[in-house]
Amino acid sequence: MHNQLLKKIENKTAVIGIIGLGYVGLPLALEYASKGFKTIGFDIDERKIPILNSGKSYIKHIKADKIKKTVTSKKFFATADFTRLPEADAVIICVPTPLNEHREPDITYIENSGKMIAKYLRVGQFVSLESSTYPGTTEEILLPMFENAPITQNSNVKSQNSKTKKFVVGKDFFLAFSPEREDPNNPKYSTATIPKVVGGVTSECLKVALAIYNQVIVKTVPVSSPRAAEATKLLENIYRSINIALVNELKMVFERMDIDVWEVVDAAATKPFGFQAFYPGPGLGGHCIPIDPFYLTWKAREFEISTKFIELAGEINTFMPYYVVEKAGEVMNKFKKSLNGSKVLILGASYKKDIDDMRESPSLKLIEILREKGAKVDYNDPYVPKLPKTRKYQYDMESVELSKKNMAKYDLVLLSTDHTDYNYKFITANSKVILDTRNAFERAGVKSEKLFKA
Ligand SMILES: NC(=O)c1ccc[n+]([C@@H]2O[C@H](COP(=O)([O-])OP(=O)(O)OC[C@H]3O[C@@H](n4cnc5c(N)ncnc54)[C@H](O)[C@@H]3O)[C@@H](O)[C@H]2O)c1
Repeated sequence: MHNQLLKKIENKTAVIGIIGLGYVGLPLALEYASKGFKTIGFDIDERKIPILNSGKSYIKHIKADKIKKTVTSKKFFATADFTRLPEADAVIICVPTPLNEHREPDITYIENSGKMIAKYLRVGQFVSLESSTYPGTTEEILLPMFENAPITQNSNVKSQNSKTKKFVVGKDFFLAFSPEREDPNNPKYSTATIPKVVGGVTSECLKVALAIYNQVIVKTVPVSSPRAAEATKLLENIYRSINIALVNELKMVFERMDIDVWEVVDAAATKPFGFQAFYPGPGLGGHCIPIDPFYLTWKAREFEISTKFIELAGEINTFMPYYVVEKAGEVMNKFKKSLNGSKVLILGASYKKDIDDMRESPSLKLIEILREKGAKVDYNDPYVPKLPKTRKYQYDMESVELSKKNMAKYDLVLLSTDHTDYNYKFITANSKVILDTRNAFERAGVKSEKLFKA
């Protein structure tokens, strides 16, 4: 069975189905479509469907041109109609994997996608999960769903398996895990140019998975199992979380010693081996780094192991917005003012520079703590005109224009996200006091007595 599928992949007649057209799924879908594969994008968010089908983008750094081209050439379309799943030879799942309110994995999106695929599963289909998750998800959650999928007229099960009325993995269908390594807006790397780790449930599954991904990805890296691939993704993100926590801790220590942590990290980064630079900031943000490590913490409990490094890093990183507000209070104090009653302008709402992604952004936490201290808070972000509703926050706030007149109103300007578009000299000239959590002003050559770092 897999030979038939491999042939279809090779001659590009295989149809690709992508479930979840977000930051990860949409660029992947466009990659397959632009390589000539008919690609169907599935999403439950019906608002996105007409936008994409009219060739427009809803994510700032994903250019409409690419969508338009693939829509016009009829290689890509989006739909919320999951009865079309059997049209796809390869189904790739790119749905969210957040934490619930108890900081435990919320894999309901994966489960819902799995149920949909199982409902329409047919012989010869390949399924790959890309969502970041704990080791075991593919084999413990998805595999049983597909093995026990209802055999319908459309399933095409003919082999010996029809006696047992079960789909057999590696024979009737193929299953793999391949983590996404998207770095939104990175000019050097995009979906196609980032090597991709792949783990199949069986050797046939791996063979099919590699064939599928080799069509669009510069390099595939096979590993022995989906578990190993799931763990690889978590290692990558835990490594970042821990190293960011380390420089955040050093920032607090060095600050007391009157040493500038950014200067020290830049100096250490000149070592040509054995050191990778990580920079401090106002707290962790984004869909991955603040969340994924706790997927492992949760799973490790099943094995009676506590993940001390992960917890400690989480503790330090979570404390960062509080530290920044503490520093803001100290800075105001120098000017005989208090945060209580002051007007604060936060620069940058998204979690990372030059993108519009608000997920887990520390700016939202900063607003909350500053308000608790009695400050009146506004924000500016060229990419976020209005603060969206998130799982935790629902602010009714719009971005304030960075005009001379507006800036004169604020007692403190607090830089949270160092967008490239910011004119740091103009901001300095028109602010009373500045607190910079990214060292952006100094990097832009600003020297000023009203500039402080946190
Ligand atoms: N954004 C990143 O930079 C990044 C990087 C690496 C890994 N990841 C991982 O990739 C996964 C997806 O992340 P994302 O950033 O693309 O999320 P996203 O929120 O941008 O997109 C997910 C999409 O899935 C849709 N969706 C949810 N449930 C669905 C369902 N049952 N069927 C069909 N569509 C459904 C949502 O409507 C949304 O459009 C997550 O596990 C994340 O951890 C993300």
